Amino acid sequence: MKIAVMVSGGGTNLQAIIDSIENGQITNTEICLVYSNNPGAYAIERAKKAGIPNVVMSPKEFENRSDFNTALLKLLQDAAPDLIVLAGCLVVIPQEVVRAFPNRIINIHPSLIPSFCGTGYYGLKVHEKALERGVRVSGATVHFVDEGTDTGPIILQKAVMIRQDDTPEILQRRIMEQAEWKILPMAIDLIANNKVTVKDHHVIIDGYDPEAIY
Ligand code: GRF
Repeated sequence: MKIAVMVSGGGTNLQAIIDSIENGQITNTEICLVYSNNPGAYAIERAKKAGIPNVVMSPKEFENRSDFNTALLKLLQDAAPDLIVLAGCLVVIPQEVVRAFPNRIINIHPSLIPSFCGTGYYGLKVHEKALERGVRVSGATVHFVDEGTDTGPIILQKAVMIRQDDTPEILQRRIMEQAEWKILPMAIDLIANNKVTVKDHHVIIDGYDPEAIY
């Protein structure tokens, strides 16, 4: 399975994918492209170090958003991935891309959807809101991308306990380490081995064992 990974920041989720392919936790998968909207994204350095084809293309390079959307769709169609992985991608995915890759785009979100998600909920903001609400448990979710924001069918989730002395930064790091970097590679491997189907907006995983996530 060929995957294109879309990034905007440090790329620790991309690194988890690269490492998991390397160590065999992800099988039957090759990263054919890493795309970033952000020229300064360290994720691009990680792609270069791993010898993975990479492209930086910012909306700012275009007259208008529609021209960028068209160029992004062409970039992805030319790469022809079987799956697109949003790994900390902060660019709004154009509807034409979502429609061109139905149930073939997945996203990692740093909360237990439907909590703390939707427009404006990304990065540290998610964890600030969780701490502000005083929840005892948060975590991460891998879901298919549909035409909404964080509304697509849920594939995997992993819970992470919150400590009373957590700051947003400490919580973000724990959720990345304990949840994101585990369930994103796991979801990719399941999809790469045809274990995931979507029926009536719900995900069915062959042989799903929640204990396997912990
Ligand atoms: C992660 O916290 C992820 O959940 C969110 O953006 C952050 C990206 O981190 N979508 P990285 O670029 O993968 O290190």
